Amino acid sequence: NSTKILAFAGSTRQDSFHKKLVKIAAQGVTQAGAEVTFIDLRDYPMPIYDQDLEEKEGLPESVLALKQLFKSHQGLLIASPEYNSSITGLLKNTIDWVSRSEPDEPPLALSCFRGKVAAIMSISPGGIGGLRGLVHLRAILQNIGVIVLPDQKTIPNAFQQFDGEGQLKDEKQQQSVQALGKKLAELAMKLQ
Ligand code: FNR
Repeated sequence: NSTKILAFAGSTRQDSFHKKLVKIAAQGVTQAGAEVTFIDLRDYPMPIYDQDLEEKEGLPESVLALKQLFKSHQGLLIASPEYNSSITGLLKNTIDWVSRSEPDEPPLALSCFRGKVAAIMSISPGGIGGLRGLVHLRAILQNIGVIVLPDQKTIPNAFQQFDGEGQLKDEKQQQSVQALGKKLAELAMKLQ
């Protein structure tokens, strides 16, 4: 059974810097011999989490689909923007919904997260590359049972970084993003 990594951005923006970053890191995942599944959270629309809605209607179809994807993958490759010094509402809302149990699971089982490994990245037009968002993302993921790689990547000055093909112009930066993907895959393979 091959090791599979689920890769996504915490932004739905069409030309998202984070979607590009995820694609670059994924090159390292495949170099290491693991498989990557890219998803765009735009394809999994869901309401803002509401416990009354969940009690009345259960989990939305999009959430059930995402839960299946999380369960069938051993690793998570996540690049998220920093919004107002934290992670995006989109990413938090997605994590909140996916953390909920289906009727056949014990409550708080966190089966989509426990024992998974994750690598996290951020890029920003600003000078610190979204670092404050990653501090929060790391804490959230660790608190729901995810093993987050100690290495992470932040890149400042986003508008200057990419070439026309969506690759990083700076070869060293490009390689270090790929290396993060490779490390994630290697750890996921080791733990599988
Ligand atoms: C931002 N942005 C931003 N950038 C940053 O470095 N620190 C921050 O706190 C914020 N806050 C913030 C809030 C909101 C509501 C928006 C819309 C944007 C800018 C952000 O980094 C920029 O829009 C990136 O382009 C978002 O990433 P994607 O969508 O290109 O992947």
